[in-house]
Amino acid sequence: MIKESSHGQWSGQAVFIMAATGSAVGLSNIWRFPYLAGEYGGGIFVLIYLVCLALIGLPVIMTEIMIGRMGKQSPINSIRKISEQNGRSRHWQTIGWMAVLASFLILSFYSVIAGWSMAYVFRTFTGVFDGITQDGASAVFGYLVNDPERLLAWHTIFILLTYAVVSRGVKRGLEPAVKILMPSLLALLLIMLAYAINEGEFFKGIGMMLFPDAGQLGSVKNLGFVILAAMGQAFFTLSLGAGAIMIYGAYLPSNVSITNVSITIVLLDMLFAIIAGMIIFPILLSTGLNDVVFNNGLDGAYGPGLVFQTLPLAFGQLSWGNLFGGVFFILIVIAALTSSIALLEPIVTYLVERYSWSRRHAASLSSLIAWILGLGTILSFNVWSDFHPLASIELFANKTVYHLLDMLASNILLPLGGLATVIFAGWILPWRMAEDELSMGQEYCGFALWRIAVRYSAPVLLFIVFVYSLLKAMGYLADTP
Ligand code: TRP
Repeated sequence: MIKESSHGQWSGQAVFIMAATGSAVGLSNIWRFPYLAGEYGGGIFVLIYLVCLALIGLPVIMTEIMIGRMGKQSPINSIRKISEQNGRSRHWQTIGWMAVLASFLILSFYSVIAGWSMAYVFRTFTGVFDGITQDGASAVFGYLVNDPERLLAWHTIFILLTYAVVSRGVKRGLEPAVKILMPSLLALLLIMLAYAINEGEFFKGIGMMLFPDAGQLGSVKNLGFVILAAMGQAFFTLSLGAGAIMIYGAYLPSNVSITNVSITIVLLDMLFAIIAGMIIFPILLSTGLNDVVFNNGLDGAYGPGLVFQTLPLAFGQLSWGNLFGGVFFILIVIAALTSSIALLEPIVTYLVERYSWSRRHAASLSSLIAWILGLGTILSFNVWSDFHPLASIELFANKTVYHLLDMLASNILLPLGGLATVIFAGWILPWRMAEDELSMGQEYCGFALWRIAVRYSAPVLLFIVFVYSLLKAMGYLADTP
């Protein structure tokens, strides 16, 4: 058996944890989790979310790391190799193809949005938001996204940054990058937390997140939606179904416990999300903007509206808001960069394996294609804002190119890939092989639990997540985020 992936290997457990946590911690930790908690039952939501992490997140992340380490190649070739070794159909490699396609599509628009964050670093530092009004903040955002050239410039810079890291490979690119970026991310997060404690209404803000108005969970129907939203978030936030965790697992040294690192990553991801809420809520509350978020229009409540309109408005009212607003946007850029690296890596490794290209060559070509695809997203916000490619299908009649790309990747390919992955691990892969990989020859009591999860509970739950996100994409569940 080969000892090390031909692409390289992490120098230890800590680097792997940093890299995988870096891929997991991204925009959704900042702009979705706090909102879900504040809107859907606070502490109760957090508990439901924890259960979802345990039932879906943990078994799936373990499975992806395990498959990666067994195959030690790109997701496509790892799954194919394992299938062939065990006399199974090589078509299981389709899982890898879906994952690679999904991560590619996500990269194309993730980069555009990361580009907005870079633009906002400068806008905040230079005081554009000083004492700005709500209309003013919307205008600044509108001005940015209405200008395709500006968006293109930032998108290009961000893709180049991602390229610069990935083209250097695991040892000289990814590893040094996460070693610098992840501690910086943590430091910035703590600085922002200190600022929120100092400037914001800290305890009231946390109360708002953890103890929101009673009655949110009032009806069983609502509770059902809350659980669905929590399951979807638990899956998306851990970067599952995209091949990212799998390829990182391919570089994991064989003496590291997959169970331990998985639990650590899941907890760190959740910690980042909760701290993000502990920063955002007190800041909104102290400027009275919580009303904008939770009682009026939903527009500024989560997603881009929160980060690019409501929060700048809040920073504009606080003392030292320019400085700390800028720090906040740097934080977002770093969180996005550690995710985009993980999005580019699966396709690059595949090209290197398939065509024996140099990494630099493979990374150039795939970055170029992601860059071109990103043009579709850029134009969706301005020139093509009325262009609806699937207009002839009623359900998609008003979806822009960006909406369609996002939907295909996040709502269809990721959950479907996750579902296929657990079915593969639970029903196709010989369980002795899984047991060897997970236990590493030691007494291991978690195996039975993992096996029940990947055979029964996780497939059922992921199927539900898949149907839910499909319905949501088609607009049947418009009233839930
Ligand atoms: N986990 C990222 C976030 O929370 C988004 C994401 C989904 C992702 N799938 C991914 C990032 C795959 C990297 C790789 O924002």
